[in-house]
Parts: sequence; structure tokens; C-alpha cells
Amino acid sequence: MSGKVVETDLDAGVCNNKEWVKRWAEGDTPFHQSTHDRFLDEREEEMFQGRKKSIFMPLCGKTFDILWMYRNGHTVCGVEIAEQPVKEFFEENEIDHEIQAVENIGNLYKSKDGRLKLYVADLFDMSREICGQYDVVWDRRSFQAINLVDHQQYRDLLVSLMKEDTLYYLGTVEYDPTVWPGPPHSLSDEVVRDVFGEYCIIELLEEKERETQDTNASQIETESDGGKPESDGGKTTSKPKSFGEACKMSSYVYDRWYKMTLKLS
Ligand SMILES: C[S@@+](CC[C@H](N)C(=O)[O-])C[C@H]1O[C@@H](n2cnc3c(N)ncnc32)[C@H](O)[C@@H]1O
Repeated sequence: MSGKVVETDLDAGVCNNKEWVKRWAEGDTPFHQSTHDRFLDEREEEMFQGRKKSIFMPLCGKTFDILWMYRNGHTVCGVEIAEQPVKEFFEENEIDHEIQAVENIGNLYKSKDGRLKLYVADLFDMSREICGQYDVVWDRRSFQAINLVDHQQYRDLLVSLMKEDTLYYLGTVEYDPTVWPGPPHSLSDEVVRDVFGEYCIIELLEEKERETQDTNASQIETESDGGKPESDGGKTTSKPKSFGEACKMSSYVYDRWYKMTLKLS
């Protein structure tokens, strides 16, 4: 069910659009890293083959990945429900831009050179007709943020934006979902293959297991969910207060990167 109409239920790991906007307003955005993802440096040659490409970034926030791609000469289109990070992205990076209201969608922030477009919109209002098709899909913590009931709708949209030779890079984290309800939601390899496998050839590019008790704090997101101790028949079990704590409490945490391409019939 779209985040426009669903009620937020943090215990069930459900976030609606208003909750995301509120998180940005309150600065509760630990997923926002202070630099671009190291995967871009490591895989640049494979992703771009020395060419300038078009990139789609669902649920883009104001990640430095956008800036890295734009500054490297690529054409970028992102979609983000909260206006604050989009506005801040252009201002903080001093990119000349204009703002255009797109009927029934939302504001479009567009760089003057036309290579960067960020829609302030619900991803589920987008379509191939509105935003076109892309050489690369960059999905860091985006599929991971989507409410579980919206997985198929998300997949259908993203697949419709792919061309025969589109490369879809998907970064995921898997942990014990009984410890933390999400977001970010735990995504097992099985779930990724279950959701995308009918339409995409899925290649696991890398898998790293985190140490769960003695984890390097700098690698940990500390997303706050207002977690509180829970009484359990006289015993008190404490819930993690953040995703970072949840990762430490989970008996396993795997970070994975996938490359997906369309199955051609
Ligand atoms: C976990 S963050 C990931 C942001 C970005 N990919 C990054 O790596 O920093 C998810 C983002 O998606 C946005 N978001 C959530 N639901 C959305 C929706 N239905 N449409 C557009 N943006 C949405 C949130 O505001 C948030 O900025």
C-alpha cells in the first residue's frame, strides 16, 4: 500500500511518506553518509566503461552518490519524497537550478545544464512516460526502505525503467528481522531473488559479513526508532534503540551488492 495512505507503524516496520518527511525535518537521517559510496570507486570501470551514462536513483535523499555521478559527467534523475534534502542538495553543492511544478507529481529541481533532475515526489507516482529509461539504476538503501507490501510495485516500476542493456546495482543488508522491524528492512538473498528473479538475471557481486558484537562504529547507521524496554512476564528485554544497535544484537549481518540485468525473452 502506498506510503501516501498507509499509517506509520514503527513496531511493524511500516513508514508512510509523512514519517520520512518528518525524519528529514528532525535530522533523523543516519543513512545519509558524509561521502559517496566506496562501491562507486571500486566498480566505476565496470559500471560506466569510460562512457557518460544516464542514471536513475529511486529514493535518493541528498546522497553524495548523486554529486559523484553528476560531477563525473553523467546524467542523473532522482526521486525523493522530502523536499528538504533536494533543496539542500542544490544549495549546499552550489548547483545552478530551476524549480518546475509538474502536475500531479510534485516539484522538479533541474540543474541549468539539464544533466541533473531531482523530483520531489512519491516514487509510486512515477512512470516510464514521465521519467524515461536509463543506462544504470543505482539503488543504495532504497529497495531496503520500501514497505514490504510494496516490493512488487517497486520492482514493476524499476523494471519498466530498464532497457535491454541497463545495469541495475542493488545494495542490501540482511540481519535477523526479529531484532529490528526496519526500515531499513532485512533483505535476504532469497527475497531479492524472489522479487526480481522472474524479470532479471541477478549476479551477486560481493557479500561481506559484519562482526556483530564488536562492530566498527563508523560503519554503523544509528537510525533511531524511539525504541523502549519491553516487559516480558517479569523479565525485561530491551529493544534496540537504533539500527546500529540492532546490527550488534543480530547474530548475523550481511552486506551485499548485486548487479541485475533484464531477462530478454
Ligand atoms: C533509507 S533512505 C536512502 C536515501 C539514499 N538512497 C541514500 O543512500 O542516502 C530512503 C529515502 O527514501 C525517501 N522515500 C521514502 N519513501 C519514498 C517514496 N515513496 N517516494 C520517494 N521517496 C521516498 C526517504 O525520504 C529517504 O530519503
